[in-house]
Order: sequence, then structure tokens, then C-alpha cells
Amino acid sequence: MTSGETVLFTGGAGFIGSNYVRFLLQEKGCCVVNLDALTYAGHLETLGRIGDRSEHHFVLGLVVDRSLVDYLMSRYQPVAVVYFAAETQVDRSIDSPDVFMRANVRGTSELLESTRIYWNRLSTEKQRTFRFVHIPSDKVYGSLTHDNDPSDENSAYRPCSPYSASKAASNHLIQSYVQT
Ligand SMILES: NC(=O)c1ccc[n+]([C@@H]2O[C@H](COP(=O)([O-])OP(=O)(O)OC[C@H]3O[C@@H](n4cnc5c(N)ncnc54)[C@H](O)[C@@H]3O)[C@@H](O)[C@H]2O)c1
Repeated sequence: MTSGETVLFTGGAGFIGSNYVRFLLQEKGCCVVNLDALTYAGHLETLGRIGDRSEHHFVLGLVVDRSLVDYLMSRYQPVAVVYFAAETQVDRSIDSPDVFMRANVRGTSELLESTRIYWNRLSTEKQRTFRFVHIPSDKVYGSLTHDNDPSDENSAYRPCSPYSASKAASNHLIQSYVQT
């Protein structure tokens, strides 16, 4: 992702995503299309004045909204999709698991499918350099005691909450698209 290139970013009003949007705009000189549903966790103010730049296009919407994502792909022709958007709070996932399944599982599936169709239409050169960047969570590996070895990418999945189960499903979906 280099200067002048466009990135379709999801969840760029959240805690970590907003910092990465700022990095892409300020340090990399990218154009950022920032799709965010502005849930309880999303605050555009976190971007500060940089959010007003002409290279930042904020779009209020859901990742699961396939027609909206298809439209953004075709309108902005991104070189990458950066997928930060998620329902993220463990306690909320215990109270309202459906919201997490829709956002994190169905949302991943729709975003992948939209990306696949867009990617299939790119030139061979653009296909080669295109990137889908997903932000996973260490919570898929479950909890550790002091006696356990640290988890790494090869550890078995042991999700302990609807949140971590939804992130594990999201990882599996993405891995399946990488393979196929
Ligand atoms: N915060 C952490 O400690 C941590 C650790 C590991 C992984 N992660 C992962 O990093 C990513 C970002 O985490 P965060 O802490 O910044 O999250 P956050 O909850 O602060 O922000 C999530 C953002 O996504 C948006 N959003 C939620 N559902 C959406 C949907 N369906 N469509 C569009 N936008 C939606 C929210 O409005 C919000 O702006 C997540 O994927 C999370 O699983 C976070």
C-alpha cells in the first residue's frame, strides 16, 4: 500500500482501526475508503482532523451489506481490503451472540465473496499485488495458565466465548478462500 493507492478499510472508527487509518493517510499517503457501522465502539472523533482530509472517504454501513461493498469495490478500485471491523467485546458476545455471528461470521463471508468477484476481474498484474488483510485475535487459542506454553499460529483453536468462536470461524473462512 503506497502513496496515492486506495484501500477499502473496514472498522476505521474503532480503537485500533482508527490508528491504522491515520497511519495510512499520514505516513503512507494512501486514499482510505473507511466503511464503518459506527456501533457503540465506533467514534469518528478518534481520527481527529485527519478524518476531514479529501483522501479519507467515510461510508456509514455494515460489512455484511453486500451490495454496498460491491459498489465500493467497483467505484474505488482498491489495491487492498483491510478488515478490522468486528464486534469485539467478550461480555457482550455472551449476552447477544447473534450480533457477533452476523457481524463476524456472515460479515466475513460476504466481504470475502465481494472481494473474490472483484479480484477475478482484475488484470493478472493487479491480482498479484492485491492484498486482503484480516485482523485476527489471539482469543481463538483460549486461556492459558502459568503452566502452559505460549500459543502461536500453530496452536489448536480453543475458543471460550461466542466472540472468540466467531473470530475462529472468520479465520477458517479466510483460510479457505486463500486455499481455493
Ligand atoms: N482490541 C484488542 O485488544 C484486539 C486484540 C486482538 C484482535 N483484535 C481485533 O482487531 C480488530 C479491531 O479491534 P478494536 O479493538 O479496534 O475494535 P473496536 O470494537 O474498538 O472497533 C470495531 C469497529 O468496527 C465497527 N464495526 C463493528 N461491526 C461492524 C460491521 N458489522 N460493519 C462495519 N463496521 C463494524 C465499529 O463501529 C468499530 O468502529 C477486531 O477485528 C478485533 O477482533 C482486537
